[in-house]
Amino acid sequence: MKKYSYIGTAQNRIDAAGKVTGETKFLADLPVREAVFAAPVYASVPYGRVLSVDLTKARKYTGYLDFISAEDIPGVNEVGVILQDQPLFARPVVRYVGDTIGLIIADTATAALNCARQVKIDCEPYRPVFTIEDSKQMTEGFLHDSNLACEHRVEKGDIARGFELADHIIEASFSTPAQEHYYLEPQGCIAVPEPGGKISIIASLQCPFYVQKAVGRVLGIPYAHVRVEQAPTGGAFGGKEDVPSEVCARAAVAARKIGKPVQLIYTRNDDIQLTSKRHPFTMQYKVGVTKAGKLVAAQILLEQNSGAYATLSSVVSYRASVQAMGPYVVPNVSILSRSYYTNLPPNGAFRGFGSPQATFGHERMMDIIARRLQMDPVELRLKNIIRENEETVTGQKISHGAGAAETLKRARDAAGWNSSGTSRLSSDRYVTALGVATCHYGNCLGAAGWSLDGSAVHLSLLRDGSITVAFGLVEMGQGALTAVAQMTAEALAVDIARITVLPTSTDQVPDSGPSVASRNIVMTGQAILNAAQKLRPILRTAAARLLDCEESEVSFAGDRASNTLTGAHIGFTELADFLYLNNYPMSTTGWWHVPSLKFDAAKGAGEAYFTYSYATHVAKVRVDKLTGLVKVEKFWAAHDVGRAVNPAGIEGQVEGGVTQGIGWALTEQLVFDEGRVISPNLSTYLLPTAADSAEVDTAILEFPEPEGPWGARGIGEPAIIPVAAAIANAVSRAVGKQFYQLPLTPESVLSALSSISG
Ligand code: MOS
Repeated sequence: MKKYSYIGTAQNRIDAAGKVTGETKFLADLPVREAVFAAPVYASVPYGRVLSVDLTKARKYTGYLDFISAEDIPGVNEVGVILQDQPLFARPVVRYVGDTIGLIIADTATAALNCARQVKIDCEPYRPVFTIEDSKQMTEGFLHDSNLACEHRVEKGDIARGFELADHIIEASFSTPAQEHYYLEPQGCIAVPEPGGKISIIASLQCPFYVQKAVGRVLGIPYAHVRVEQAPTGGAFGGKEDVPSEVCARAAVAARKIGKPVQLIYTRNDDIQLTSKRHPFTMQYKVGVTKAGKLVAAQILLEQNSGAYATLSSVVSYRASVQAMGPYVVPNVSILSRSYYTNLPPNGAFRGFGSPQATFGHERMMDIIARRLQMDPVELRLKNIIRENEETVTGQKISHGAGAAETLKRARDAAGWNSSGTSRLSSDRYVTALGVATCHYGNCLGAAGWSLDGSAVHLSLLRDGSITVAFGLVEMGQGALTAVAQMTAEALAVDIARITVLPTSTDQVPDSGPSVASRNIVMTGQAILNAAQKLRPILRTAAARLLDCEESEVSFAGDRASNTLTGAHIGFTELADFLYLNNYPMSTTGWWHVPSLKFDAAKGAGEAYFTYSYATHVAKVRVDKLTGLVKVEKFWAAHDVGRAVNPAGIEGQVEGGVTQGIGWALTEQLVFDEGRVISPNLSTYLLPTAADSAEVDTAILEFPEPEGPWGARGIGEPAIIPVAAAIANAVSRAVGKQFYQLPLTPESVLSALSSISG
C-alpha cells in the first residue's frame, strides 16, 4: 500500500490542548454584550390543547422582560427537518411534555428560569399514547393526520418460494430501548440581531446549514441574511443534528423582537425532557435457512417509536430497513419498517440512525440460527457474509472493497474465538463467554438523502505560506479538525504546521449538508482533493516561473517545489509570496457530491448507499450468576475503514463507540412517567464510567474505497453499531439462555437464569 506523508499516520488531536487547558471557549463561556437570557416554557401534559397561558406571576418577577410565542413569528411556525409536522412554538395542540409554547426573556439566566416556572398553562388534556402498540391501535384523535410517521419496504426475490427452500424457519422478536445522547454540553445558542434585519447565530450544533434554513424560514428572511457559526461543541452524537434548528430559531425570534442578543442554554433537566432520543424498536424476524447454513429467506417487521414529531424518523426507518439483514447475502427478502407517533419527546438521530437497533435484530438472529443448526456462530456468518460481486438485500452489487469477511476473521482470531461455544466457568458464581456481531453501514445519506449529499471546502493561501481551510461539516468531538488538517497537508504536499482549520460558518463555504452519517472523511476529503486539484496548476505555473523551468519539470513534495532536473527548489513561503506579488489567485473552493444512485423507493431495490463500512466486534463478558451483573471484560473490534486517515483517531472513535454501546446494552435506562422523564440526571440515568468500560483491541483493516479520498470510508457510527449485539450474544452464550431485549440489567439476567426455556 502506498505510503503517504500524513494519511495513515497517527496524529495528536489539534484541538486537544485547548480543550484540556480550558482555553477553548464553549458556548456558555462566551461573553455577549447587552445580552438577555431565555428559558423555555413548555407543556406539562403529554397531549392536550392549550386553553390559556397566564403570565401574571411571571411578570412580577424581578428581571422579567418578555414572553415570546407563536404570534411573534414573522415567517412560518414550522421547523420539521424532513416532514413539515413540527411547529416552532406549539399552539394550540401540545404533543409531549416539553413541547415548547414560548420563551421567557429576562435579564439573567436564573431569572428567566424562575419566571418560566411561574407561567401557568391551562390545558384540556387528551388521552395520550406512549407505546408503538397503543399508537397503532388508536382509532381517533391521532397525533397528526395519522399516527404513521413513515414507512419503508425492501422486497427482493420471492419470499414464499424462499421459505419453501428452507430446511429450518426460525422466528424471534426483539426490542431495544431509547437512549439519551447525554452530550456533556447541553443545547445552547446566542442569537444576535444585525443591522438591516439580518441575524447571526453562534451555537453548539452539528448542522449549521439546517439552522440557517430554519431561521430564514421562521423569520421570513433570505438564507443569505442568516449567518450561523458553530461554537466548539461538547458532544452531539446526532442529538445536535436537527434540535439546534429549534433552539436557534426560537432565540432568533426573540432577538428579532427585542433587538438584543439572546442567549438560550438548556438546563440538563430541560435538555433531557425537550430533545430527541434514540428510537425504541420492536422487531420481528422470520428467517429461512438450509441445513448447510445458507440463508434463503428473511421476512422482517421493524417498528419504531417516533415520539411526538417525525424529526429524523424517515432516515432511521429507511436505514434500518435496507440494513435489516446486515452484511449477508439473502436471495428472498420482505422487509417492512414503520415509525409511529406517540406522546413522548421526539425520537431522532442518534449515532447509527437505527443501525444499532437493526444490528441487534440481525445479529441476535444469526446466533439463534447458529444454535438451532448447532453451528459455530462465526462459521454461520462466514457462510453468508457478503463478498465482492455479491448483492445486498436491496440487490446492490458490491463491486469494491467488501472487507466484511476479513473483519470477522480478524476479530475471531484476535479474540481466540472458542468455536465449541462452551463457557468458561471461573467459579460456580461467575461464567465468562465471547459473543460476536458483524455489521455494515451505508456511508453518507444514501438514496433517500441524495440531494443533500454534497460538501465543500474553501482553501486560502496567506502571504506567509500559511493556509486556512474552511469546511462545511463540523468538529463535534470526533476528531474532524485533525483529519481535515492531515488531508489538506497531504493534498497540497505541505507541512501540516501550515494548516489552520477554521470554525465552521455558513458564510465561509457553500451549503455542505448535515454533519451526520459518518460522512466527514469522505465528503470533506473529496472536497479537499477537488480544491487542491484547482490550486495546484496555479502553484505549478508560479513555481515554474520562480525555478525558471518547464511546468512539467516541477514536482511538489515535502513542503517545497523542486525542479526535477536540476534539484533546485523553493519553499512554500517563498512561493506564496510570489503568488501574491504576481496577482495569482490564492484561494479556491472544492466541492464533491456523492455519485448518482439508482434506487426504486417503492420496492426498496437498488443502490441504497454508494459504499459501506464493515465491522466485527467480539465481546468478552463475565456474568455474575448470583447478582445478574454483567461485566464486559474486553472488546476486540475489527473495522474495515477503506483507508485510515488518522489511526489514533480511529482507535479513539472505536473506544468511545464501545463505551457508548456498553451504556445502551447494560446500564442506561430512560424512564418516563406519563411522558415525563424521571431519570433526568447522572444519578438516575447511568452512563458507563471508566469502571464499566472495557479494554478495546482495535484492528484497522484497509480495503480501499474507489470513491473515497485516498480510499477512506467513515468510522464514527460503525464504532457503536455492533456493540450491544455482541454483548447480548456473549451473555446468551454465557448463561445458555436467549436474550431478546435491552438493556441487560441484573434483574433481566436473573429472571432469564431462573426461567426454564432456553
Ligand atoms: Mo448522526 S445519527 O449521523 O446525526
